[in-house]
Amino acid sequence: MSKSHNLSNRLEVHTLDDFPAEAAERFAEWSETVVASQGVGRVALAGGSTPKSVYEKLAEPPYRDRIAWPAIHFYQGDERPVPPDHPDSNWNMATTALLARVSIPAANLHRVRSEDEDLDAAARRYATTLTAQLPLADGVPVFDLILLGIGTDGHTASLFPDTPALKESQRPFVANPVSSMRSTRLTLTYPALNVAHDIWFLVTGQAKASLLPRILKDRDPSLPASCVQPKTGRCRWLLDRDAAAELGLR
Ligand code: 6PG
Repeated sequence: MSKSHNLSNRLEVHTLDDFPAEAAERFAEWSETVVASQGVGRVALAGGSTPKSVYEKLAEPPYRDRIAWPAIHFYQGDERPVPPDHPDSNWNMATTALLARVSIPAANLHRVRSEDEDLDAAARRYATTLTAQLPLADGVPVFDLILLGIGTDGHTASLFPDTPALKESQRPFVANPVSSMRSTRLTLTYPALNVAHDIWFLVTGQAKASLLPRILKDRDPSLPASCVQPKTGRCRWLLDRDAAAELGLR
């Protein structure tokens, strides 16, 4: 039996029995609500492997037929420094699982140019796109929905522990050197995350169970996901039972 808990007026935890289907159902509901209320929805997609099963569900009936695809604009929450056809590319994963399987106008797909040599310039160009295309709150682009995951080190998007982007207070999207990976990632920053109307963390698996009390209850600052706290929006954690196991929720 799926369960829902309100940890505060802006923080909800949902433990889902059928994670892909129930997360897809919530996305379909979100799309119906946002399109009915404002005619358009702007969503930043999560990368990694967890969202793949949800994206695949969205590309299939009944969800596929409930979503007004031409009204939804797809952006990226973060990306690896690889071309969009690379096996490690988050855009490649989302395209294969969803974007190439449903009728989304090309004009609604907003990919960051992660193949560019100059990733800082690519990030700046993407930030300019976001600022030009999204509503603004004190100059910061406001997403209707941002999908996120967490890594076992508590990173979210490509905000990894002890990286410069954690300290970014102005720019909504940056190139973030991740020395532990000897790589540079492209990512939304806390200013953009924390003005979003809705943030959904998609988390599954026992490996992340011990992180969740540290993030949701202790707000452990050593875990970057702890610092995602929307100022006026709502944060939902969509979990499977394994990930929720150590939260002690009845
Ligand atoms: C990425 C993601 C990253 C991801 C977490 C969880 O580029 O890898 O954006 O933040 O959400 O690493 O990844 P999994 O879903 O594969 O566990």
